[in-house]
Amino acid sequence: MKQQTFTILKPDTVMRRNAGAIISRLEQEGFDILGAKRLHLTVEQARAFYAVHKDRPFYNSLVEFMTSGPVWVMALERDNAVEYLRRVMGATDSQKAEKGTIRAQFGTNIERNAIHGSDSPENARIEIGFFFATSEILR
Ligand code: RTP
Ligand code: MG
Repeated sequence: MKQQTFTILKPDTVMRRNAGAIISRLEQEGFDILGAKRLHLTVEQARAFYAVHKDRPFYNSLVEFMTSGPVWVMALERDNAVEYLRRVMGATDSQKAEKGTIRAQFGTNIERNAIHGSDSPENARIEIGFFFATSEILR
C-alpha cells in the first residue's frame, strides 16, 4: 500500500554536492517526491525536530551539525515507504551501514550520516506537517 515518509538530506550531503545523487537513488528505488524545500534549519527547528533525543549526550552536537548548512526536506511516497526508506538508508553509523546503502555510500560517521528518514508512519505524518502545509504536498 502507498505510504508517505519524510526525509532530510542533511548538511553534509548538501555541502558535498551529493543531493542530486541521493535524489536520483530515491527515484530509482521507486519513491515519488511529493514536496521538497531547501532550508537552513534554525537552532529552534533542529532542537524541536530532534526533541526525542534531548537528553542524549549527542543532542547538542546533532543540533549544531543539522544547523551547519542548508538541507533538503522532502515528503516521499512509495509502497511501504517508511520501512523501505530505512532499509535503503542503512544503519545510523555510516561506518557500520551495509554495503550499497545510502549512508554507506554518502555518509561519514555516526553523526554525519547524509540522510534522515522517519522511523514510523505516525512520525512521518508529524514530520511532514512540521515542514509542509497540506497544499504543498502534490500527488
Ligand atoms: P535519523 O533520525 O536522522 O533518521 O537517524 P536514526 O533514526 O538512524 O538515528 P537516531 O538514533 O534517531 O539519531 C538521530 C541522529 O543523531 C545523530 N547521532 N549521533 N554521536 C552519536 O552517538 C549519535 N547518535 C546519533 C545522527 O545524525 C543520527 O542520524
Ligand atoms: Mg531517528
